[in-house]
Amino acid sequence: MDDSVRRGLEGVAVAETSLSDIDGGAGELAIRGYPVEELAGDASFAEVLYLLRHGDLPTAEERDALRAALRDRRALAPEVREVLRAAAAADLPAMDAARMGVAAASLVRDGAEDPETDALLVAAQLPTVVATYWRYRRGEEPVAPDPALDHAANYLYMLTGEAPAPAAVDGLEAYLVAVSDHGLNASTFAARTVVSTESDVVSAVTAAVGALKGPLHGGAPGPVLDMIREVRATGDAREWVADRLDAGERLMGFGHRVYRVRDPRAAVLEAAAERVYEAGGTGTDAGLFEAARELERVGVEALRERKPDRRLDTNVEFYTAVLLHGVGVPRDLFSATFAVGRVAGWTAHCLEQLGDNRLIRPSSRYAGERGRTWTPIEER
Ligand code: ACO
Repeated sequence: MDDSVRRGLEGVAVAETSLSDIDGGAGELAIRGYPVEELAGDASFAEVLYLLRHGDLPTAEERDALRAALRDRRALAPEVREVLRAAAAADLPAMDAARMGVAAASLVRDGAEDPETDALLVAAQLPTVVATYWRYRRGEEPVAPDPALDHAANYLYMLTGEAPAPAAVDGLEAYLVAVSDHGLNASTFAARTVVSTESDVVSAVTAAVGALKGPLHGGAPGPVLDMIREVRATGDAREWVADRLDAGERLMGFGHRVYRVRDPRAAVLEAAAERVYEAGGTGTDAGLFEAARELERVGVEALRERKPDRRLDTNVEFYTAVLLHGVGVPRDLFSATFAVGRVAGWTAHCLEQLGDNRLIRPSSRYAGERGRTWTPIEER
């Protein structure tokens, strides 16, 4: 490989951003200058969406106006429900349904294409898309959004049709805030690349959902929950971890491209999960939370022994699995629920990119054959 090629663009800065700041060495994440620990647990999703879009926390009036703008855009076009019904009938993964549903948000645009309103539209529609797909997957009719409920509470309500417990709402709100933005990760880069062509925000978010689907990005929390359950069933975390690593497998929820210490979101989500499991309720099982902590301890220790040159700690996905399970989000919706939170960052990045746009167009080093001559098909 040519030394000048930066595979995976590691360490290459291609944009200036005022949205979030990551210090991978120190394990710090700040959103618009606020450490993530300051926001997750206190801020609502609407407040952080506002913060990302406008640069400052909203007043109560500004927050309420944003909440109303989201509420007014939650309902899906009937055609989208049909697509989601078909996706569920075909047993497609939730991320495929999310991609199809968000792509169709243009159907309910109230007016001309406009980045600011498209950004609100996709943020408002994503939870309804995911919940509607899920209801069809369960053989149930969708639950219409409840205008009296805020973003996180309404998402849980649309999934179950029941008023969510306050602890579950708080836990989900902390999650959505914690994952709202994270520098130029793969899905955010995809979104920025799409709008850099002066395409629209709905297209950009559709591409971002596609990028988030992969297990190296947003697809890990489902397998993390499976892993915790499997370890619990065997009763021996140390042996389970050793077997997996001996087989050359990766431990899901460990390691990160940027962090060289524990992902700060892991701590925030662990604390939120602890509150949810202490309160009890849907999906909470204190044994699972404790098993997760034990698996983290054993996993980190084993990875230190085997990869002494590379610190591999838990990443955001590890406690995402524990927290989302605790608040009652089904395992198959973990990645799609990540999208429900990350859409705040995706759309803010789109607006930032459009505010000072330069077409994103990297180059590649050609490494193939040269100077070949045409052979007619009958001579091949
Ligand atoms: N388990 C075991 N070994 C690991 C793990 C892991 N989770 N992560 C990295 N390693 C090892 C690799 O095998 C590699 O070893 P080698 O040098 O002997 O080949 C070394 O650590 C470096 O790994 P890279 O692949 O170069 O690390 P990279 O920065 O590309 O990967 C990634 C980061 C993709 C997150 C990786 O750690 C991983 O696959 N983790 C598991 C999946 C996961 O948790 N994904 C969610 C990421 S968080 C997010 O995107 C929202």
